[in-house]
This record gives sequence, C-alpha cells and structure tokens, in this order.
Amino acid sequence: MIFRPWLDSTLDPKARATLLRAEMTLEEKVGQLDMSLNVSPERDAEVLDRGATGTSIVASGEWAGNIADGGVRAASVRALQREAMSRHRLGVPLLVARDVIHGHRTVMPIPLGGAASFDPELHEAGLKAACEQAILDEISWAFTPMMDISDDPRWGRVAESFGEDPHLSEVMARAAVRGVQGAGADDGSPKIAACMKHFVGYGLSRGGRDYGSVEVGENTLRNVHLRPYKAAVDAGCLTLMAAFNDIDGTPMHANRFLLRDVLRGEWGFEGVVTADWNGVGELVNHGVAADSREAARLGIEAGVDVDMLSGVYVKHLPELVRSGEVPEALVDEACERVLALKFRLGLFEREWSDGERGVSVWETGASFEDVELSRRTALSAMTLLKNDGILPLSPEESVHVTGPFATERDSLLGTWCLDGVGEETQSIVEALTELHEGTLTWDDGRFADFAARKVIHANTALVLLGEHRLSSGEANSLAALTLPAGQVEFLRQIRAQHERVVTVVLSGRPLDLSSVLELSNAVVFSFHPGSKGALALAQVLFGVEEPLGRLPVTLPPSTGHVPISVREKRTSRPLNPYVQDGWQRRYVDAPTPPAFHFGAGSGYATFSLEPPRIEYDRVAIGEKAQVTCTVRNSGERAGRTLVQLYLSDPAASVTRPWRELIDFQWVSLEPGASTDLTFTVPTDAVGYWGRENTWQVDTGEVHLGVGLSAGEIDWARLEVTK
Ligand code: GLC
Repeated sequence: MIFRPWLDSTLDPKARATLLRAEMTLEEKVGQLDMSLNVSPERDAEVLDRGATGTSIVASGEWAGNIADGGVRAASVRALQREAMSRHRLGVPLLVARDVIHGHRTVMPIPLGGAASFDPELHEAGLKAACEQAILDEISWAFTPMMDISDDPRWGRVAESFGEDPHLSEVMARAAVRGVQGAGADDGSPKIAACMKHFVGYGLSRGGRDYGSVEVGENTLRNVHLRPYKAAVDAGCLTLMAAFNDIDGTPMHANRFLLRDVLRGEWGFEGVVTADWNGVGELVNHGVAADSREAARLGIEAGVDVDMLSGVYVKHLPELVRSGEVPEALVDEACERVLALKFRLGLFEREWSDGERGVSVWETGASFEDVELSRRTALSAMTLLKNDGILPLSPEESVHVTGPFATERDSLLGTWCLDGVGEETQSIVEALTELHEGTLTWDDGRFADFAARKVIHANTALVLLGEHRLSSGEANSLAALTLPAGQVEFLRQIRAQHERVVTVVLSGRPLDLSSVLELSNAVVFSFHPGSKGALALAQVLFGVEEPLGRLPVTLPPSTGHVPISVREKRTSRPLNPYVQDGWQRRYVDAPTPPAFHFGAGSGYATFSLEPPRIEYDRVAIGEKAQVTCTVRNSGERAGRTLVQLYLSDPAASVTRPWRELIDFQWVSLEPGASTDLTFTVPTDAVGYWGRENTWQVDTGEVHLGVGLSAGEIDWARLEVTK
C-alpha cells in the first residue's frame, strides 16, 4: 500500500489535488477529464480498473438528459462509488452528476417561473431543498443554474433561464448558486457542486433555433450576457459548462479568449469547466476541427477540463501529450481542478456503505417543508395579466372546468425534472375540488363541443390551456408562439356559450396570448409550476392566495415581434408607438408595443406609485443616491407589489437600452395604506462597459425611474459628479 498523503483532509483541496495528481500516470490523469453516461460497476469494470473516467452523468436519452429515466437511487450510486474506489489504483471516487434543474423528487417551477418570483431568497430555498434531496441520492454535481439571457422565446430553453434581463439574471444566479451549494452544507463545506451554464451567449441562437450560431459583439457580451456568470463566479460557483454555440465564428468549446482570458484571467475562476453533451466532439461538426484528434487538442487548449460523453480526450490526449503537441501541464492543471473539486466535496471521506448514509427521499417521501416550498414557489410563477373583477372566484359559485390541463398531471412539472413523478402530481381539477365549496363540474378538455354544452350550466367557465411540458426546454424551438393547435378555437367555442370565462395558460415560455386575452374576462399566465402547482393555482383562483409572479420576460403580441425585450435600445429614431406615422422604428401591419412589458403582472390589490424623489440630485462617484417613492394600496384587499427601479443614460460612450433594471423591492400593504420606499443607489449601478470594452462610470446626467413594470416608469434626474 503506497503512502497516500492526499488523504490528509486537513490539507487544502488544491494541495491534496497536486499530491494525488503527481502520483498518477498520464492515462489516469486523462481519465479524470472524462465524463461517461450512466457508468455501471458491471458493464464498465474494465474502465474503472484503468481509471479511465472521472465522472458519471446519471441521465437518459441519446442527446440530452431531459428524458425521464425512472429516477436515480442512492443505493445504486453508493454501489458504483464503492466499486470505482476499490478498482481505481489510487482509490479515486467519481463525481456523479445529474440535471437537477428545478427539482428532484419535489419539483419547483421551471427556472423562468423561479425568475418570475423576483424573490432570490425564495428561489434559493427551493433549489436548496431540491439539492438536499439529490444529495440523499448521492448526486454530487448538479447541472444548474442555467443563466443564458434571451429575448427570443422561439428558443425552447428560455424555460430554463432567468429571462431577458441581466440584473434579474445576476440576482437569481447568485441565489441559485447559494441554494445548490448550500444544500447539506451545515458544516460550511459544499456537498454538491453547482454548474453555471451555458457559457456564453446561447440565448442568442440564430432564429431562436437550438444549437444555432451566435453573432454578438464583445460589448453586448460584457453589458448583458457575461454579467450573470460573473455574479455566479463571485458567489463561488464551483463549475461551469461551455455552450454548444459559436461566438462570432469561434465555438465556445474552443474559445480560449472567453474560457481562459476572461473566465480565469479576468475573473479568477478556479473551478472546473465541463463540456456540454459531446460538445468537444462536435467541434468537428462546427467545421473548426478536421477530426476528433484536433477537437481534443482545441478543447484542452481552450480550457475545457472535462469532456462530456464524446470520448475524444481519453482517445487522443495521451498521444497528443507524448507527441509534444499538447503540453502535459494542460492535462495536469485540468486534472488537478477535477481532483480539487472531489476533495472539496468530501468525496474521498464519504462513507459509501449503505448503512451509514441518510435515507433517500424515494423511501421517506418529501418533507412537509419541501412540499410547502413547492407551493410557495408555484404561487410566484403565476402572473395575473387580466382581470375584469371576475377573479377571485367565490367559493360557493358553480364553476365548470375544462381544457387540456384540467386533468393533466405530468406537464405541471415542467420541462426538466428527471426525478419528479407525474402520476403522483395533483391535477388542477383535484385541487379545485378540494378547495371549492360550491358545485364544481369538469371535463377532460378533449371535446370542445361537449365542454360548450357543459359550461352553460355553471356560473363561470374555467378554461385551462397551455403547452405540454416537453414542448419547451432543449431542442424545442417553435416557429410560431401560439398556443398548441386547436386551443384558441376551443376557447372561442366556450366563449360563444358563456360571458364569464377565466382562462389559465400554463407554459414553458412567453406566448402570443392576444386571442386568449380577447376571449377571456381574466387571464392567469403561469410558467409550469411544479409539484404543488395545482394547489397554488386553486388557491389563487379562489382568492386564498394572490398570484405573486411578475413577468421576467416581455410578452410579444405576435411571433413577428420577436426578438423583443426590456433591453430595447434608444436607436437613431426612438419609438413613439402611439404615433402611427412618420419615419420611425415601427411595424406598419401591427401595433408595435409589447403585449405585456417586462415586470408586468398584478395581484388582487390595486397599487399606485407617486413620482420618485431623489434626496440630493447630485452625487459624486463612489457615493450613493437615495431614491424614494410613495407606494399606495388603493384597493380593498391587502396585497403586495413589486416596485422596480430603472436607469436611463441619455449620453454614454456606447448605445445603451433606454431603460435598464437596476433594483427591485416587494412592498406589502393593507388596503388604503401607503408607505415611502427608498432605494439606495451606488454610482456603480449606473456604470457600464464602454466603447473600449472597459468598465466606466461617467459623470453627467442620468435618469432614475420607478415603475410597476418596464412599461410605466416615472423618472427623476440625477447628476453624477467627480
Ligand atoms: C444537455 C444540455 C445541458 C445538460 C447536459 C447534460 O445537452 O445542453 O444543459 O446539462 O446536456 O444532460
């Protein structure tokens, strides 16, 4: 038995990694850079004997992890780890990775619904609960949070994102990293690594089609797309996943500037960079590598430490090093980062025998706290877009429920929840039945003609429409942002029979809701809400709770309006959408403004804001301004509202959006009450990456505005001085 100094857990993980790496053969070092699919103690015994892989991704499906696979089980992972450590010459454990995107056995809303909460603490709590369940199943690497910024909902992966705004994405990215890496970390050391993805610019995929090319300049990358990643790095995120796309001709899996100069050189990131699914191998598809050998060289040179599933590192790196084409130092540094992560997560010290560990949530079932978190996060994924007073429904009135989501279970869980069980998810009809005291009838929404006959006997028709959960997420790009075929016609037939129609749309992305809004007295728009979404929706509809979501994305009036977002720039001819003539930036065949602005939505109370007041309208760089506004609840119900603070910079060294979210706060008020709300604004909040792609804070005039959405902002002037 050789002396194993790296097993001294009092040493720093990096020091332990250097000691262990120094003992390894070249093939063993390269083995740590390989990630293989569903490593099996039986099938892969020879691979384990050679130490030829360092990570097992527990997933399914040929091309992505989001095909349900029956769930991971703690016992099988422990058996794998025992086998891996006993077979490895130096006793090295595996990282066991899984797409714990927005839940484990208990499922929270899809991440876009998490962003709709504008509540980082709540989002953190939800992800922490999910990852604590995942840790019980011995997962040590969660491929979450995704933080790609997109203003193109044709791209199905907006479902996994925090939406279109860089400030909101930064805030939620930090919260997600805290949630994942805070799971099980009572002793202060992480038990599971978060993975910020997909670095970078994936949300700009051409045409909203997945896996597309990306053309974007460095200034936009720095002012928008890189921001949440920098926030996640500063929050201590331990790993990063490269994106499938290229950036202006250089694929991210071969992008030394962004992966080495920016990520490591400028930001000091010391964590592990992993490829995305076959991403290194796909450099051949991109047409920048003649073969897999060149792909392996490009990947390791760019700074991709782990090769997910393509196998090109194990196949080519030893020979590339021995031929002198790849410095062994590149393999050593990548290997040490992987080993340091395993030491940091405590994988060498964990007891992998079955008797010693916590009981999997598959045996115990979800705790009350986790289920309650699922309900609370679901409330925040729902946004009230229209209400003529018909909502909330009275508990006594007769309601007929119809539409494809009436009895649906599985789709409530959203696009990517491998360990959520659809069959055990409460349907909306079941939740309504539990809550409603009056007559509640329903049908399964298969026949509009049958539903049209039934609704006339009820006081209110409740129509539940939306996307199937597998119609959003990866490889689900749409050419038309309309509801699935037939649903608008279904609603039209119901409307023809009833003058009191409440419509709920459940979706994985922004949709064109123009017909739904026209045909309904009230519209609730919910991102797929998770395990307790049905209960949360029933509570919203009957007024037990109010919808707490606000839009993290702009809703387009039609597909033709895309791309569209809060980040619209001033341009040479600022848009006056209400003047339908003149030479300006508008459509001549449709209204130009969004259907709903970023940040829009309401609860059941009625709020108003008075114009903002700035205490001192001059502030020196490095000091802070105070912006105050009076918020009033002029409704009859208690409630809460989201007050948003925006910046507008009329004269910068580059073009900037004409309004940029820089802060937000929730305010709860009793009916008739009002309060003064103050934002403290450091001058850094008005800074940006300027023409030389350097960070700058200008002196001069800026405007700070408050609003309940990006479409209704009252401004005040501030002078920034030296
Ligand atoms: C997929 C996705 C990525 C995921 C990975 C593992 O293709 O792009 O988000 O984490 O592969 O399933």
